[in-house]
This record gives sequence, C-alpha cells and structure tokens, in this order.
Amino acid sequence: MLNKKIHGLLNKTPETDQDQSSRVNGMSRRKFITAAGAALVLPAFVPDYALGLDGKVAPSNKITLGIIGCGNMGTANTQAFLNESDCQVVAACDVDKDHLTSLVNIINENYGNHDCKAYHDFRELLARKDIDAVMIALPDHWHALAAVEAARQKKDIYGEKPLAHTVAEQQAIVHAVHKHNRIWQTGSWQRSVKSFHKAAEIVRNGLIGIIQRVEVGLPRGYNNAEVSEKDHMLPTEPPSELDYDFWVGPAQKIPYISARLHRHWRWNYDFGGGQLMDWSGHHVDIAHWGCDFDNSGPSEVEGHGEFPPKGGVWDAAKVYRIELKYPRGIDMTIAGGYPDIKSGTKWIGTEGWVHVDRGSFNASNVEWRRWKQMPEELRKVKLYESDNHHANFLACVKSREPTITPVDTAHHSTIPGHLGLISMLVGRKLKWDVKSETILDDKEASQLLTRKFRSPWRLV
Ligand SMILES: NC(=O)c1ccc[n+]([C@@H]2O[C@H](COP(=O)([O-])OP(=O)(O)OC[C@H]3O[C@@H](n4cnc5c(N)ncnc54)[C@H](O)[C@@H]3O)[C@@H](O)[C@H]2O)c1
Repeated sequence: MLNKKIHGLLNKTPETDQDQSSRVNGMSRRKFITAAGAALVLPAFVPDYALGLDGKVAPSNKITLGIIGCGNMGTANTQAFLNESDCQVVAACDVDKDHLTSLVNIINENYGNHDCKAYHDFRELLARKDIDAVMIALPDHWHALAAVEAARQKKDIYGEKPLAHTVAEQQAIVHAVHKHNRIWQTGSWQRSVKSFHKAAEIVRNGLIGIIQRVEVGLPRGYNNAEVSEKDHMLPTEPPSELDYDFWVGPAQKIPYISARLHRHWRWNYDFGGGQLMDWSGHHVDIAHWGCDFDNSGPSEVEGHGEFPPKGGVWDAAKVYRIELKYPRGIDMTIAGGYPDIKSGTKWIGTEGWVHVDRGSFNASNVEWRRWKQMPEELRKVKLYESDNHHANFLACVKSREPTITPVDTAHHSTIPGHLGLISMLVGRKLKWDVKSETILDDKEASQLLTRKFRSPWRLV
C-alpha cells in the first residue's frame, strides 16, 4: 500500500537568503538555540508563579506551541490558543514577513514580552527540542510536507482541514502520525459545537430510523469579493515581503498573481481543491460522524463539475454535484450550487430527518429541536464530547488520549471529496475499495490519487 512506502521527509532545499539572515554570529539559528540551551543555568530566585503557587499553570508545565502559517486561519487558531492558560506560544513561522510580524506582535503583546521567536523556515522551528506541539495552517499543498516532518520531530499536531492535497499525501500523514505516536487534532471544529453533536447523536441513536440518504450542501463559486479588481488578476513580480518560491514549494511554479495567493489559492488546483475540498472537512465530516463512517467510506463515486474557461486565474469547479454509495445502502449527495441540496448536513431516515448547519438546526420532530442535548435515557450511543476544540487538543496532548477529530477521522472525512474531484476530472464514475484505499480498474483516475512534487521537495 502507498502509505507503507511513504515515510519521512527528505530535506534537500538549498539554504535561502532568509536562512542566511537568520544566522547569529556565524552560527545557524538551530545551532545557536542548542548552544544557548546548553548554557542554561537555574536562576537563583524562582518566583511563586513559576511553581504554580498562585493557582496559575507553572511555565514548566505548559505545553509549548509553535505556529506554522500566520495567515487567516493561523491567526484565528493562535488567538484561540492564547486564551488557554496551559499552553505558551513560543514560536511562529511564515514565508510572508508581513503575516509573520503581525502574528508575532499579537503573541508578544498578549504575553507582555518579546519571547516569541520568528522563523522563515518551518524545519528550523520543528527542529527545536523545546517545542511540544505545533499548529499548522498552511495552504493545502503544504500540509503533508509540514505535518510529516512535524511528526518525525515528535511534535503533537493541530492540523487544518482538509488533511492534505491528495489521498496519497493524506496517507503519508496518517502513517507518520501513527509511526511516531503523535496526538493529532484536525481543524474540523464543528464537532466541538453542541448543535452538530446533538444532530449526529440523534442519528446515531436511530431516532430517524434507518438512514437512507444524506445530503451535504457546500458553497459554490469562489469567495473572491476583495480580488475582483482587474489589476489583481495579472502576473506581476511577487512583493518583497513574500518568498514566493518557498510559498509554491512542492507545487508547480506558475506565475505570481496576487489573486491566487493568500486565501485565494483555494480556487486553483495546484494549491487547493476549490469549495469542495475547503468544506468537505466540515459538513462531510459531520455527515460521517452521524453515519458512523469515521473509518469507512464510499464504494462508488460519481462527480460532475462546471469548470471556468481554461487559461483563467482560477481553475476549480464553481458548481459541482457528487453522488456516492456507502455501506448499509446509504446514498449521499455532496453538492455546491444546487438549490435542492441545502447548505449543511441532512440525514434522511425511514422515520424522520435532521438537518444541521452553522447557526441552524431543524428536524422532522419538533421536540428534537427544543433539546439542548439528547435526553440522557436516549443516549445509548454517546458521541465524544468537547466544547472547546483547541482546549480538547491541549487536554489530549497531556492525557495522550485521542482528540475529537483524530488523524484517521480527518483522512476518511475528506476522501469522498478527493474522489469526487477525481471523478469530475476524468469524467466517469469511480469504484473505491475502502480497505486497500485504491480506485478499482481505472489507471488514469488512480494516478490522480497522488501528484508529482516540484524538485527538490519530496515525500519518501
Ligand atoms: N478550520 C477552519 O474553519 C478553516 C478556515 C479557514 C481555513 N482553514 C484551513 O487553514 C489552512 C490555511 O488557510 P488560510 O485561509 O489561513 O490561508 P492563508 O493564505 O490566509 O494563510 C496561509 C499562510 O501560510 C503561509 N505559508 C505558505 N507557505 C508557507 C510555508 N512553506 N512556510 C510557512 N508559511 C507558509 C502564507 O504566507 C500564509 O500566511 C488551509 O488548509 C485551510 O483549508 C480552516
């Protein structure tokens, strides 16, 4: 199997200008840290708070956290971690100096110090032995390289959805996390929200009868309001604050156009997977939870997409519809841009239905709508409970118990989206073998389970 062959990361990238600028008195930062660490001596005076005597968590007991990716979600996740008293954000990394500086300032202002170290190269951050865990919020084409290296460096990982850019890259992450025995939390935070939990529990406890059909509604098009001006659509020189070559990393190097960079990389298949892959880790994830498919998947997948004209800035499907066949005779539709499929997740059973989305819950039974949570006596199946996704990760780092969205769950939640996209691209129905994780009898489609990395980046 692919995931048996893929293990570890080969780092062959030549030192960049920024690596050189990070040298301190001729020593690389990594060596400098080691040297400084070796020289560490115990202070003569230890304040009470350091011993935890004032009710605060002693610094020595805090989980030290590194941030990789300081854009939109990296900033949101960091702010959530800054609210948790049992972790300390000690490092941040980005290849865009403006994003990096902005987040480092937020972190330092929060702690009232200047201790958060800034990195250009995530491998330097990951090499630090004093960092326990990392939060990775990079564009999808970077997820596998960063996560596999993080696992290899024995970090626990809060990693963003979708798990990775291809099924093979996801398998590499799953393999590395298990091999190195790491705790993994996915940014599929809807599982830590009460309405989604209640909906999935109602379905899992059979209140809607036997599940017959699931409808998953995702957004259509692109969220591109702020890049609609013409001059953002033309190739230009990358701005001086950005290391564009490092940003592109393992993807094919296409000309820099600001409208497909920060946040908008998702609309280009070199870097992301359109709205389909941006949202599969949310509403398909919830659909799987309700159906008990966290370690399962579809056997047949047929997708149709409407793509923009070739040669444009973006190439992701703007409208798409995927029909899937699952175990127990369950049919699923995942769609973006089809009014008959409502945004969110809807399970339809022989005795009723439940629909849940952000900020809304509806069901065939009015009583279910009134419940804050399922009544205790009906909860034969009790789903994992968490009311704070980031705190759940930190608690699991300490307990070494699985999080609410572990790596295998994230893998299975996004496989339907990946297969749907492949089906759309080859233009035919696919047969999927869940156990071996292979597409049956279709060489061309199977090749799209993976992609070539741009040299020198590779997963080995
Ligand atoms: N869980 C959620 O609700 C949610 C919401 C939005 C985004 N996301 C996910 O978060 C991830 C990031 O999305 P975003 O919207 O924050 O994108 P973004 O473009 O705003 O941020 C990505 C950041 O990564 C940086 N970067 C790129 N390559 C890098 C590298 N090699 N090393 C260091 N930094 C690098 C970029 O410069 C940028 O600052 C995606 O996987 C996305 O799907 C999750």
